[in-house]
Amino acid sequence: MKFFIDTANLNEIREAQELGILDGVTTNPSLMAKEGISGKNNVYKHYKAICDIVDGDVSAEVIATDFKGMIEEGEELITIDPKIVVKIPMIKDGIKAIKYFSQKGIRTNCTLVFSAGQALLAAKAGATYVSPFIGRLDDISQDGMELIAQIVGIYRNYDYQTEVLAASVRHTMHLISCAEVGADVVTCPLNVITALLNHPLTDSGLAKFLADHKKVNG
Ligand code: G3P
Repeated sequence: MKFFIDTANLNEIREAQELGILDGVTTNPSLMAKEGISGKNNVYKHYKAICDIVDGDVSAEVIATDFKGMIEEGEELITIDPKIVVKIPMIKDGIKAIKYFSQKGIRTNCTLVFSAGQALLAAKAGATYVSPFIGRLDDISQDGMELIAQIVGIYRNYDYQTEVLAASVRHTMHLISCAEVGADVVTCPLNVITALLNHPLTDSGLAKFLADHKKVNG
């Protein structure tokens, strides 16, 4: 399973990259706004800065919601860096845009996916990635993980090449369950990835090893 980091924060991206386990980055307009990045030039410069840090795909979301606007924006976004994947919302014109880009060999990430039907459409249009949001479904008392498993099963039935990129991953159990059901990618904040490191028996075991070493070595 690939690990993407879901942030536009350069320090966090650097830290994840230095850990040696990072496969890519996803961003969205809310995450860019959180970093205070505004204006097209600054946004594009920021995407370039992210691409310079990470070895892997970087999803950059279009703001336009009409077919022509999404095509123009996507074609501009991919000039920033070969790592850019055009992130497109799950709407009617979005599906048309994904189809257009897939016919041109341009990679896409279909975002804001909340149902198996939407995921089927994204795959049929030729999306490179589909992004179902787990946490936001959990927020409204629907089982986000169930959706991931459902989409993975459907894609396997027909051998769709679209990768299931589980998004809105809020904690380690989301991430581990994604691995259990066979999601291709998870994207999450850095703290979810670093939380995987923790186990009290690791801490107490290491303390004991070091204490025993000290007893005989001083
Ligand atoms: O990748 C989508 C993600 O940014 C949404 O996460 O926690 O805002 O639902 P969240």
